[in-house]
Amino acid sequence: RTRIIIDADPGVDDAAAILMALASPEIDVLGLSIVAGNVPLKDTVTNACKIVGVSGRIDVPVHAGAAGPLVRDQVFGKYARIGAFSDELVARSSIVPSDAHAVQFIVRSAREAAEAGDPITICAMGPMTNIALALIQHPDVARGIRQIVSMGGAFTALGHRTPWAEFNIYADPHAAEIVYRSGVPIVVMPLDMTFLALFTAQHFESFRDRGGRAGGALYNLFSAFDRSDIKRFGRPGGPIHDATTIAWLIKPELFTSLRATVGTQVTGLTLGYTYADFNQKMGYVPNATVVTDVDEAGFINLLIERISLYGSV
Ligand code: BDR
Ligand code: CA
Repeated sequence: RTRIIIDADPGVDDAAAILMALASPEIDVLGLSIVAGNVPLKDTVTNACKIVGVSGRIDVPVHAGAAGPLVRDQVFGKYARIGAFSDELVARSSIVPSDAHAVQFIVRSAREAAEAGDPITICAMGPMTNIALALIQHPDVARGIRQIVSMGGAFTALGHRTPWAEFNIYADPHAAEIVYRSGVPIVVMPLDMTFLALFTAQHFESFRDRGGRAGGALYNLFSAFDRSDIKRFGRPGGPIHDATTIAWLIKPELFTSLRATVGTQVTGLTLGYTYADFNQKMGYVPNATVVTDVDEAGFINLLIERISLYGSV
């Protein structure tokens, strides 16, 4: 089983990704490290606790982490004003966050993993502030991290937060740059790829009809926060970006990828713009695997299949 930490800023697509991971027998979720992003930290933490609550996996700890980015001024997602998920959408939960800070949790888990000779994987679904802090404060933790699977960046589809930038990278470009240059193997799930798999109302109904309490919560969330963009995608439906990180771990054969040198802009108008050199034109050794394509039906079916597992508990 792949032992992972989920670093997230829930977020409706984070919610789907977390529930997918918690239902998947191939994956052992050591805990959630939570960061501010889509909404302020207190709300991402509440949302994470609610998601763990509906999953029934009360053994999985939730750790609150960084409340803001390393250097830049703070930005939130499109639905920031709404704050935490209402009790109508996702039932209130008795889960409370653990006493340990998310950065402490990452450091401790990575060190233990390094000692045991079995490094962990981090699935990064929000701004990478927690992960960067762990790597800066204790560079030895890099040895305990097998890979970081990062949802973030936009190479050719260009941004949705600014004309150039994807939200997770734009919200903390300095953190992203630290992670990219850390020497830890990086897998990048950019918008270029996540925009290729669109979930429609019919798929959300499958979550509701087959997925028990967890599936019902996802149906409510995706129905409340419309993510379709017919002008952009040319067809109905919307992406579930963050769940691609989990699908990659379970079924990498659903994806196509290329090695590249990846980095981001940390100043100026193009703040958070991510670049990728796929052909080593600049002569650097590639630091990342960039996922460029996805089997849309395969990914959608896998997510529905895993959420359906909640229907039988
Ligand atoms: C990313 O930004 C957030 O809005 C989503 O949760 C996802 O992690 C997509 O750009
Ligand atoms: Ca997210």
